Amino acid sequence: MHPVVENGFAVERQVSLRAYNTFGLPAIAQTMVRVRSDADVRRVLADPQLGRAPKLVLGGGSNLVLTRDVAQVVLKVEVRGMRLLEARDDAFVVEAGAGESWHELVAWTLGQGYAGLENLALIPGTVGAAPVQNIGAYGLELADRFESLDAVDLVTGRSVTLDAAACRFGYRDSVFKHGGFGGLAGKSLITRVRLRLPRPWRPVLGYLDLERKVHETGLTAPDARTIFDWVCAIRRAKLPDPATIGNAGSFFKNPVVTAEQCRDIIGRDPHLVHYALPDGRYKLAAGWLIDACGWKGKSIGRAGVYDKQALVLVNRGGASGAEVLTLARAIQESVYGRFGIRLEPEPVVV
Ligand code: EPU
Repeated sequence: MHPVVENGFAVERQVSLRAYNTFGLPAIAQTMVRVRSDADVRRVLADPQLGRAPKLVLGGGSNLVLTRDVAQVVLKVEVRGMRLLEARDDAFVVEAGAGESWHELVAWTLGQGYAGLENLALIPGTVGAAPVQNIGAYGLELADRFESLDAVDLVTGRSVTLDAAACRFGYRDSVFKHGGFGGLAGKSLITRVRLRLPRPWRPVLGYLDLERKVHETGLTAPDARTIFDWVCAIRRAKLPDPATIGNAGSFFKNPVVTAEQCRDIIGRDPHLVHYALPDGRYKLAAGWLIDACGWKGKSIGRAGVYDKQALVLVNRGGASGAEVLTLARAIQESVYGRFGIRLEPEPVVV
């Protein structure tokens, strides 16, 4: 269907979102507008019909579970561009449009000689979605490389710049995931992100899978390109490629428990995978907990648990969002029943 041009921007109606979420879940957006700049967002906000309607901001759809058709106006972020903003003695600062692919940004920075994002290679999704859930992998998270971002306030239309403190980054969390007072979920649209890549570059090799690569290859001082290749290989071996098997990465966050809870579980399950946190608590591997409950490779309907990583739920072909949630709830119940731990979903459920 051809979009209808209204007030200088193109409105698409009755759009299938199946190709716009990496889980490949079916849902129809009644109204969708692609935004390529701050000015595009302001044009939508100034529109008499669309301006005041609730909005859903869509990036790469890689952290999204669609359980129903979307009545909100979908703003599909397509702000482009990647550039070096500043070459300081202590860092390269790069800026990218929110609509760029995250992985392409990582590859571009390395190609230009600005190392520092290699541990975050191959994470699906867009640059604009990266701060929303503070993406992380292999010992590094976005917050470690973050400089600032630009966003448009979806009520006033004003462009604002937020620093790391204003983004309130946490483990797979930020101000953009929270509604209510002080939260920015649904209230702002990220248009550009700036990252700080420290000079001199230092490798981050503390994560077990990378330590293993150092050991296997004997390369004790790998360069950034080598680490990039290692991370790509580790991810390809463990995680399903959304282009072939629909998924949204880890479906649950790794839960944090008290030392007492951790000891109690180890008393019953000595193999529990756990990591000490600086505050005395412990982070548990949700994948291990789910695996221990026997879920790996299992399915409910057309939604399944990936056979190489139990933390990843997959679309076995034609699943609905409801089927994914039914599976997720069954997993939560069995993990709670056996370990007394409530797993919290990582993706946004719509
Ligand atoms: N494990 C099992 N069985 C499983 C899965 C995992 O026993 O089925 C065990 C592993 O053997 C390992 C431990 O659990 O000892 C941790 O597994 P892994 O290294 O695969 O990492 P994870 O904790 O499951 C987290 C992130 C991933 C990120 C990796 C690497 C979360 C929720 N997930 O997974 O992020 O790529 O570490 O840093 O924090 C995502 O957020 O979408 C994501 C993929």
